[in-house]
Amino acid sequence: MSAAASEAEALIRTLQLQPHPEGGFFRRTHEDTRLVPNPFATATDDDDDDATRLASTSIHYLLTPASPVGHWHRNKALTYHFLHRGRGRYRLLHPDGRLEEYVVGPDVESGERIMWVVEGGVWKTSAVEDGDGLLLISEVVVPGFEFRDHEFLDWESLVRLVGEQKAAELGRFLKK
Ligand code: GUN
Repeated sequence: MSAAASEAEALIRTLQLQPHPEGGFFRRTHEDTRLVPNPFATATDDDDDDATRLASTSIHYLLTPASPVGHWHRNKALTYHFLHRGRGRYRLLHPDGRLEEYVVGPDVESGERIMWVVEGGVWKTSAVEDGDGLLLISEVVVPGFEFRDHEFLDWESLVRLVGEQKAAELGRFLKK
């Protein structure tokens, strides 16, 4: 087993991480249980259960050699990200079709980011940057994470946003 693979196994065990539906592994580490009005509720919403959100939720998130991709998805809430270990590449697709790409890692002198923010409504995919590496981060979602605010990207929407040619390249990060 590679050094990164055994480091990843140890992290999964020590931090008690579970498989994440987006790919990779995670554990919720904190909830601010104060309730705030759901800012994403529409005037026509009469679903009382959906009226509030936790003020914030936090997770550890790990990409590994065996599960190296966080697949295309978006959240209505804003997410703060903080690097702990390793190096990753983020690809973001903005609602206007603009593609943004950057590397997160420890080498701030070379422009790598140790903290990055993804606004609500922006499509996101992440991948381990080094062939056989890992990426360990924390995320804080504000207001708190809810699956009904979460959506995976599909092929048709990707094509609509970036066209066939670019979609052929970015489609490898779609959840199957
Ligand atoms: N992504 C960011 N935060 C969370 C969370 O709390 N739970 C899940 N399942 N995914 C997340």
